[in-house]
Amino acid sequence: MPLYNGNIKSKLPKVGTTIFAIMSGLATEVGAINLSQGFPGFDVSPELINLVDKYMKKGLNQYAPMPGVPILRNRLAEKMEKLYSIQYNPETEITITAGGTQALFAAITAFIHEGDEVIIFEPCYDSYVPAIELAGGIPIHVHLNPPTYQIDWSEVKKLINHKTKMIMINTPQNPTGTILNANDLIQLEKLTSGSDIIILSDEVYEHIIFDGHEHQSVARFPKLAERSLIVYSFGKTFHATGWKAGYCIGPENLMKEFRKVHQFMVFSVNTPLQHALAEYLENESNYLVLPTFYQEKRDYFQQLIKGSAFKILPCSGSYFQLLDYSCITDEKDTEYAIRLTKEHSVASIPVSVFYNTPIDHKLLRFCFAKENDQLEKAAEYLHKIKP
Ligand SMILES: Cc1ncc(COP(=O)(O)O)c(C=O)c1O
Repeated sequence: MPLYNGNIKSKLPKVGTTIFAIMSGLATEVGAINLSQGFPGFDVSPELINLVDKYMKKGLNQYAPMPGVPILRNRLAEKMEKLYSIQYNPETEITITAGGTQALFAAITAFIHEGDEVIIFEPCYDSYVPAIELAGGIPIHVHLNPPTYQIDWSEVKKLINHKTKMIMINTPQNPTGTILNANDLIQLEKLTSGSDIIILSDEVYEHIIFDGHEHQSVARFPKLAERSLIVYSFGKTFHATGWKAGYCIGPENLMKEFRKVHQFMVFSVNTPLQHALAEYLENESNYLVLPTFYQEKRDYFQQLIKGSAFKILPCSGSYFQLLDYSCITDEKDTEYAIRLTKEHSVASIPVSVFYNTPIDHKLLRFCFAKENDQLEKAAEYLHKIKP
């Protein structure tokens, strides 16, 4: 096919092929263990698959209602009340989305106008900045630093002005594996009190949290909940990232605007999946087991890595472990990640790519949501690398 002959004015001139595609492609090419992309290496529960099958065979295969099937929204309202002691109206305050990324995109598109500023904390999930920029907004980057990646709220306060429309938070956090504590949310509440700022809270890893910590959802803080849209992902929770199913929760007047965008982005989401998820959610142990399940994975991976030349950073949530390779080489993290894949057969993601202007702390992100034999093999290869 000959190339398009006209002038192309890119809306995202800085965006190229993502590092995730590059690292996964390289891992396949050289036959490396792929701990780069953030997807679980284990199967979806057969029970959940059978439920999808059941609802497909029952004939529930046409468009779902725009905000999602009522029974699923009811289940989610019950879940929010049980976990975070807050009542959301399933009719008006919960919308089923095609995954967390679509929910984030719809929320940003609905509220960000030309010139609005959005405060984001970096390193961060890679969809935030393009979504803000496509909406005409201006991302205001707050850099967080290893090993704790703690937010300095006095710094945030200095960045807030009349153009600040939104603050995005993410806990547990990708890529750092850190979590926000109650004090962080109290600070956020104080900073936004009396303002028109909307909080977009990315909580897709709400159930992947360790060491007895409780997930600090904005939903636990009534004053924050009043100004927040919260994003969740069934993909993350039920090892089904390929299903692209999630949801967004927030007060009715925010949700009304969210739905205006959502209905023209996707209109509605996979019907049989929604019915299956509603039934599967009836048994709360299907998600309450996750902290223990993933903590065992984290502990196992850390134990396997101990004694190697890589330094383990603290990981309190998500399924990502950061490893510091500064004892081994001072190569740039992007270069070392490629060499590690090619020469040592382990693929990871360099953390600098999660910053708008790359900051290289000599850290790589490894996804430990994989079968133990994969983790064992990766650790065996990493142990062979000497300082
Ligand atoms: C922080 C964060 N938010 C959102 C998402 C997207 O979730 P989904 O796969 O449901 O679109 C991801 C996926 O990696 C993520 O890490």
